[in-house]
Amino acid sequence: MTIGALIDSAVGPIAEGLSPTPHRDAEELYALAAGIAVADIDRDGEPDEKTADEFRRLTGARVSGVPMAYLTGVAPFAGLELRVGAGVFVPRRDFGDVVEPAVAHLAGSTAPVVVDLCTGAGAHALAIAHRRPDAEVHAVEIDEQAYGFAERNAADRVAAGDTGINLHRGDVTSPGVLAELAGSVDVVVSNPPFVPERTPLPPEFGVHQPSIAIFAGADGLRVIRGVIETAARLLRPGGLLVLEHGHLHGETMPALFAADDRFADLGLHADQFGYPLYLVATRAWSRAGPFAGGGRLRSRPPGDVRRRPAGGTVRRRSPSADPGVRRPGSATARPLRRPAWPRRPRCAPDG
Ligand SMILES: C[S@@+](CC[C@H](N)C(=O)[O-])C[C@H]1O[C@@H](n2cnc3c(N)ncnc32)[C@H](O)[C@@H]1O
Repeated sequence: MTIGALIDSAVGPIAEGLSPTPHRDAEELYALAAGIAVADIDRDGEPDEKTADEFRRLTGARVSGVPMAYLTGVAPFAGLELRVGAGVFVPRRDFGDVVEPAVAHLAGSTAPVVVDLCTGAGAHALAIAHRRPDAEVHAVEIDEQAYGFAERNAADRVAAGDTGINLHRGDVTSPGVLAELAGSVDVVVSNPPFVPERTPLPPEFGVHQPSIAIFAGADGLRVIRGVIETAARLLRPGGLLVLEHGHLHGETMPALFAADDRFADLGLHADQFGYPLYLVATRAWSRAGPFAGGGRLRSRPPGDVRRRPAGGTVRRRSPSADPGVRRPGSATARPLRRPAWPRRPRCAPDG
């Protein structure tokens, strides 16, 4: 049997194991077994016995739902390679575009402040720090194992030359989280858990990945609601929230934001297959002032999250340095229209 035939023989079983990308997985597993790059696979060659056995072992694990990235130990995300393994959510490599509106929003501001709520392995925080070395990036994660991966990834990125991020172990739904940043943040980005408890899921998500990363109460909104509250408190007027919520909340989220006058300019974004993926919303100016008594000069309340810089230096910004800030009234002056999801054809993710 040729290497190509061996790889092809694994595609069907991997697809039956509910992988959306069976061809890509089969090739990557062969490359992993052989210790080579996918580009170097010689489909017409003959596999040696050891490589073939290792490929079958890896294929068996993948068929049972073990995430690809747990097998390879790395997850590509937005141009970075992040370490992952059992105990941490695998950043979705096909969803790296979620950082684009965040990066676009920061264009024109100097030394912006960015917060990633529910950072997991650190994906969004590190991707933005990579693109904006002048940014002061904070990332919050509740789970010890996930936090450990974020720390290692942050250290790797500093070693690779990126600016260090500030990691915080804490609960993003806590009213005291990042209290010192209230009203001073330019972008909040978040991919929180959002699946309703007891929703049947493929083993990759329902069994192998940590449930704290997937499930969030009976309606799936327990953490999302906290993220919205925290974002409303942290963002400066004109600041941007980028919130991933998946197709499960494609209807709920626009309704939630339409009823929330702290946000304006809602934008809905679908993934490449047409499924609702994330939204963006602008922090509106509130007449009462959302940040009364808040801001960086306040001391942190007791019980606030543990704060540990993950290396590198953090630059402070001057509060007046953001040319992109909307003036009072500009955001609320525009009524929040409920936008429609972009229509796109749905298709199978991988041939
Ligand atoms: C869906 S995963 C996303 C991780 C990362 N943002 C990504 O896209 O790869 C959600 C993450 O939120 C964390 N999490 C869940 N509840 C949390 C909470 N209340 N506060 C902080 N982090 C939380 C989980 O441990 C998990 O790492």
